[in-house]
Parts: sequence; C-alpha cells; structure tokens
Amino acid sequence: MKRTAPAPLSVWRTLNLDDFLIGVPHYPEHVDESYWERDAERMATAGFNVVRLGEFAWHIMEPREGVFDFSLFDKAIAVLGARGINTIFCTPTATPPRWLTATYPEVLRVDVNDRVATHGSRQHADTNSPVYRMHSRRITEALADHYRDNPHVIGWQTDNELNTTSSTSYSEATEREFRRYLRDRYETIDALNFAWGGNFWATAYDHFDQITAPRAHNPGFPSPGHFQDYHRFLAHATAAFQHDQVEILRRANLDWFIFHNLGRLEDIDFRGQFGQDLDFIGFDIYPMLYDEMRRTGGHAATQALHLDVCRAYSGNFIVPEQASGFGSQPGFSTMTPEPGEMRRMALSSVARGADGLLFFRWRPAHYGAEIYWMGLIDHDDVPRRRYREAVEFAGDVAKIKKDLLGTTVRMDVAIAGADFDNQEAYKTYPMGMPSPFEDAVHLHRYCHAKGIACGFIHPEDDLSRIKLLYVPHWVMWKPQWNANVEAFVKNGGTLVIGAMTGTRDEHNHIPTIPAPGRGLSELCGVRVEEFGRVAEPGADGLFGLHGTEFGLYNAAAQRPASSAARRYKFVLGNREHEAAHLYELLDVDADVKVLGRWSSRFASGRAAITIRKVGEGSAVYMGTYLTETLVENLADQLFARAGIAPLIADLPANVEVTLRHAADRKLLFVLNTDEGTVEISSLPAGMDLLTDKEVNGCLSLGPHGCAVIRF
Ligand code: GAL
Repeated sequence: MKRTAPAPLSVWRTLNLDDFLIGVPHYPEHVDESYWERDAERMATAGFNVVRLGEFAWHIMEPREGVFDFSLFDKAIAVLGARGINTIFCTPTATPPRWLTATYPEVLRVDVNDRVATHGSRQHADTNSPVYRMHSRRITEALADHYRDNPHVIGWQTDNELNTTSSTSYSEATEREFRRYLRDRYETIDALNFAWGGNFWATAYDHFDQITAPRAHNPGFPSPGHFQDYHRFLAHATAAFQHDQVEILRRANLDWFIFHNLGRLEDIDFRGQFGQDLDFIGFDIYPMLYDEMRRTGGHAATQALHLDVCRAYSGNFIVPEQASGFGSQPGFSTMTPEPGEMRRMALSSVARGADGLLFFRWRPAHYGAEIYWMGLIDHDDVPRRRYREAVEFAGDVAKIKKDLLGTTVRMDVAIAGADFDNQEAYKTYPMGMPSPFEDAVHLHRYCHAKGIACGFIHPEDDLSRIKLLYVPHWVMWKPQWNANVEAFVKNGGTLVIGAMTGTRDEHNHIPTIPAPGRGLSELCGVRVEEFGRVAEPGADGLFGLHGTEFGLYNAAAQRPASSAARRYKFVLGNREHEAAHLYELLDVDADVKVLGRWSSRFASGRAAITIRKVGEGSAVYMGTYLTETLVENLADQLFARAGIAPLIADLPANVEVTLRHAADRKLLFVLNTDEGTVEISSLPAGMDLLTDKEVNGCLSLGPHGCAVIRF
C-alpha cells in the first residue's frame, strides 16, 4: 500500500492510497489465542487486506504507568500479517486505564451539571486537560516507537470517534484552557467585551480570569457570542489533542497514512487543522441507527445524506466501520439488514465516495456494553450470511477497484455544507427553527429519490463542476466567499440563497445593513425589509420541535391544525404553497424578476422568491424555508434551465444511482435499496463490472441487487 502526500481539502479530492482498504475492526483481545489462526485464514479467504486494532486496549498496552507490553498485539499483527492482512493501529485514548484516572482524577470529564465522569465506560477523559494530553502523547510515542519498523502496520487511526459521547466539558482544566484560548483570540478584554456584547445585560468582564464556560438555562440565555466561542474553543482543543498524536506518528514513519473515524461530528472543524493534519477522513456509517434517531426518510436516503455531508469536508473517504448486522447498546437496538442488504449498503458507501471500507466488526463481543452488536462471524464462531456477503463485496471491490480509484462523485446540485461557524451560529440562537442541515434534508431527499447527482460543498471550494448551489439559511455567511460564488454565477451557475442568510457577522452581531448583506444583496438584487414567524404547514403553534443545547421547545407543531393558526401562503408558478417557519418581505431591484409572491394576509403581493440574471447564470433569493412541496416546485422552475436532469430517466422508486467519474471513464452505480425486483431502462450502454455482462439500456435487479456500469 503506497501513500502519497494528500492534496488540499476539497470535495473533489481522491484518496492518496494506491489500493482499496477492505477488512474489519478486530478485537483479538476479546477471544483466546486459539481463534487467531482461523480468524486470519478466514479473513484472507474473504479477500480482506486490512484490520483495525487496538483502540480500546490501553490497559493491555500499559498495564502500569510507564510499563509497556505490546506482546499481545505484536503476536496478533504477525499472525494476520503472515496471511497478507495488514494492520491499521489506533491510539487507544478513547479508554484510559483505571490506574490513570485513579492517579490523575483531574483528567475526568465534567458535565454541565458538574458531575464528574466515572470509570466503567468510554470517553470519560477530558481531551482538553493538559495532563490527559501529556498521557496521550506518552502512549502515542511508545506505540510509534514500537511499531515504526513493523512492515505490517501501514496506517493509524487517531483515538475513536472523538466527541461522540460528549464534546463539552466544564472541568477546571477546560475552563482554564478556554480562558487561554480567549486571551489568544482577543488579546484585550475590551475586544472580547465588544465581541460578546458586554453592554447587554451587564455581561462585560474586567479581566479574562473572570470568564467561565457558558451554561444554557443557568440562569437564562447566555450571549450567542459567548456560546459561539466556547464551541470554537472545543473544536480548537479537539484538533490540538489530535495534532499531538499526528505529529508523533508522522515523525516516526512518513509512509503511514493517518485518519480519524468520525461519528457525530460534534465540535470538530474538519476543514480546519483537524482535517488538514490527516490523510483523509474516516466516517463510521450505521444507516439503521441514524434513521431511527433522526427520522430522515428511508435507510438508503439517510446513509446517502450522511456520506454526502462527510464528503464535503475533504472528498473521498474511507468507512472504518460499516454496519453489518443487528446492533445494540443497553438502551436501544437497530433494525437488521436483510439478506443482500449489507452488501448493498457497502456498495452505497462506495457509490458516494468511499475508497476503503471495513465492516464493523469481525465477531461480536461476548461481554460488555455491546454484546448484541453483531459482526461478520456469529457468537458461536460460525460464518453465516454476513460473512458470505462480505466475501461477495470483497469480490465486487476486486472487480471495480482499478476503475474506481481516482474517480470523484459527480454533483450537479450542491448544498452549502462543511462550515463549522455556520453550524454553530445556528445553535447559538435556534429560535425553534430548523437548522440549515434539517432544512437541506428536503432538497437532498428529493435529489436522492429522483436520481439527481447531489451532495454538499463548502462555498470556498471549486464550484466550477456543479450546476446549482443552495445555501440553507447560513446566518454567518462570510463576505470572503462572495467572489467565488459570484464567479460561479457569472459562469452559468444557479445560486439559491435561503432566508436568514447573512443576517449576522462573525461575532453573532446583527449588521447595520439589511440581509443578505454586502455582496449577496447586490448579486441577488434584494434586501430583506421585514420578516416574521410562521407555523409549520398543518401546525397550530409557533414553535417547532427543533432543539439544541437550549433544549426542545414546546410540541405545538405536533398538534392538529386549527383555523386559529395564521397561514402565510405564496404562489410559485401556478401552485400555491403554505410557507414554513418564516416569511420575509423583499425589497427588489428593477432588474430582478419575481418568481414567487406572497398571496395571503398583509404580505399579499410582495415578493417571496426572486431571480436575477447575472452573466451566464442566475441568483435566486428565497424568503422562506424549504418544504417537500416547495422543493418539487423549485426543481420544476430551476433545474431544467440550469441543465440539471436525473442521471437516469424514469428511475423506479427505491433505486439509488450515482456517478463516479474521471476524465477517461464513468462508473454508474445502480443499487436496488428494497426487497422487490426492479426493471430499469434508459441506461447507458456499457459493461456491468460486477457481473462482467454488457448492459444495453435495460437491467433487472433483484432484491438489494447492484450493478456498476462502466461506460
Ligand atoms: C461506533 C464506535 C464503535 C462501536 C460502534 C457500534 O460508534 O466507534 O466502537 O461502539 O459504534 O456501537
């Protein structure tokens, strides 16, 4: 496996490895050694080339402070290596051993209610603590030193899903580090008082030592500036914690690739130092888990959404943990992939940019907090359908990887994403409205269902390959992005700006000019004159269910509609819509065409959605939030003129389609995400690489059937 230096972060970046990583996270420490040879043999037979080891085994590697013992892993790595299975090793810092937290209790995380974490689970240490960082460097140095010349260790994962259990901390160390961060950022207390608006509610400070981490509802709502900086600090501290480890590993061996496996993406600014330090991103994907939690539509749509969000940070990625079967922890359990579905879900990951994939996990644990989290092999050591599907998938990878590596995922419709400040700015002042992400889901789901090439992109990335950019209510739009989006529009792109965009500066202050602010106002030819709150269509109250650290607001949106609710409607094309969440009244320039007008109450007749021709393209302003029906109508109004069409005409329901391409080749992924048989027509003529058969326009796919057509 050869590594080349990574290119700068971009959604269009391909992986910097010359082979596809395929295998499993593996825990040889959970079974006795009599299993090890057989395990390695079965993995080799399956066609695997890698395992991931060690992320929760610090207590084995350093049983007493300063006493290291890597013999268990040395042996496991050698047994696997002899069968051609290489190792990705992990820094084990998600689970410090008990001696460490007993000797240094100050490293324990403290929650918002001042409860100190106890030993007995994971992620109990505070990565902001300088003492914990010192121990993290110590174990990383010992590991790097020990494995620097081991030919079977080819790369590293830092920690495990940083911040997934909790990203916040209120320990003494965190408060101290927070103040240090603020001192570096603002230099003078006056500058901080200005940024946080100290003259409001007498929230000004005399010096940095008086500052504490903000706590929602204790006693009331804190300043949005205070909140924003706390989360900026947490992201900064998470990156610094990882940076320590990366520095040590790079110093030891420059051939090693280094990544992190992201889970919940809390307080991680992947486009900042955190991502710049790594070779590529790893994203753990459990589609059935997310679906139950977030109600975002079917499992396939949820998986596509999460992977597209992840690709926006840095391009192609690996999946270090791909769900294989039933999953549970003591408090919940997930749906179970049906026969064929595990392989299909793995191919869906590849279709959306995975250039490496490990099935979680080789075998399930017999003890601990995940005893029913299944792997490829069952508890009785028998390989059944999940193992067979993994073998099939490894065969698929062997057939496609030569063509696959070096391709990027096509995107015609892109949603602005991957911006830490905007994600956090929403949370500092949510007002019971959907987040940009929740709003964007409507558009993503539509494109996914229709087979339109879609994804997410940061506005400072290369926009020349997309046709439409939707900005979902980014309150903290940065003026430095204007030139890039303006060039995109002038060259023929369609820009759609959602309500509330550009309503705050980087301190969360409201500017003194109307939204969407300097640059965007001129581009769209609109100024927001007035705005007001609207209930969700069909709802009776003013508040939705959208929550953040400030908690959930009342559940009025769930009550049945009554005539008492104020309805704000608008007409777009020949269809009248009920607005969701917000209405804005727009003051428009003479060269702006009004696409949609308010049609009810006092707003009647005022502009709601506008379009302005700029160069070869168009700038659209939308003074409300998306709904399912508005997305359909907007697509009718805008997509054809922007040159956007589905990848395949007449796509049957539940068929997922994406295109991965390079200058000399195109790979069309066609994946049946359901249990019925589907007939697909309008396909390009080409070769299905999975079956080695020619496809001439039509294809029949059985339950969870998959094809990858090269043309
Ligand atoms: C991931 C985590 C794994 C395992 C898995 C299944 O989030 O990284 O260690 O816990 O979920 O629960």
